[in-house]
Amino acid sequence: MTTPTIELKPSANPLSAAEREAILANPGFGRHFTDHMVTIKWTEGRGWHDGQLVPYAPISLDPATTVLHYAQEIFEGLKAYRRPDGSVATFRPEKNAERFQRSARRLAMPELPVETFIEACDALVKQDKAWVPAHGGEESLYLRPFMIATEVGLGVKPANEYLFLVIASPAGAYFPGGVKPVSIWVSEDRVRAVPGGMGDAKTGGNYAASLLAQAEAATKGCDQVCYLDAVEHQWVEELGGMNLYFVYGDKIVTPSLTGSILEGVTRDSLLTVARDLGYEAEEGRVSVEQWQRDSENGSLTEVFACGTAAVITPVGTVKRAGAEWKQSGGEPGEVTLRLRQALLDIQRGTAADTHGWMHQL
Ligand code: COI
Repeated sequence: MTTPTIELKPSANPLSAAEREAILANPGFGRHFTDHMVTIKWTEGRGWHDGQLVPYAPISLDPATTVLHYAQEIFEGLKAYRRPDGSVATFRPEKNAERFQRSARRLAMPELPVETFIEACDALVKQDKAWVPAHGGEESLYLRPFMIATEVGLGVKPANEYLFLVIASPAGAYFPGGVKPVSIWVSEDRVRAVPGGMGDAKTGGNYAASLLAQAEAATKGCDQVCYLDAVEHQWVEELGGMNLYFVYGDKIVTPSLTGSILEGVTRDSLLTVARDLGYEAEEGRVSVEQWQRDSENGSLTEVFACGTAAVITPVGTVKRAGAEWKQSGGEPGEVTLRLRQALLDIQRGTAADTHGWMHQL
């Protein structure tokens, strides 16, 4: 694999400091983008080439570009945090780079070298460092690396040309309520992914497949949909864009990776953070029946969702056909909040990074 250098072509018209500060005061999620982006091309026979850091701008695609028809696309999500001394660090970027390679293999796309993925993210964050929100709040800079098939033509086959990009967006809480508990609709008929499918790849198709059930969840008055396995329709898998954890007193359990669940970086990190705090942490199977029964008998004390965008979000209400129950009285649970704070302290640089997770720029 070749590793292209990234040539800098800075924007002649970056947003003014006053405009940027107005956005950073209330960024929301995924609504505003920084002044630059990285682009790197891949061509069959040539490999990766033409790495550039250029002004953020629309990209022009022929209407017959493969990605528009056959959805050969993968993406990642990671964050850069402002530390107390004003410096900036990203959280476990190599984990995202490795998952990006796994997703690429599953979608028959070329693998971007891990060091190029990290170099591209670093280059963008360094250039647009002023966009990393101040230390101390919920905000961070969300990075969205992605790759699309750019060959022009309607033949169904792996494309012979690709474009890798990284864009960045200042981000506040993913859910408008912040750490306010969210409500979950358990979908017992629609599935997100199937065995042998691509549920463990981070590809837009999985998110497209999740939207109808997500819209149905909204009609039930819920914030998020929870998917069950596609075979027995009873084992909890994940929410559309985040993983789930179940808290049984001093033990936390997350659904094991079955091939149809996305291996979240936050999910993985929490197994370690929880053990560091003295909790038992394990991967296992949890059925929807068990979820309801253990909530009703009180042994299941808390449930929370986790992901890069969602951080750790408590689950307050759960609904399924014919039943509805509250999780930890509908309030954020103590374990959930403790884990959330411990993880954020590492990410924001206010706790020791004992696992070497932070990548300082
Ligand atoms: C992330 O957490 O980074 C994701 O990609 C999930 C998406 C719902 C924003």
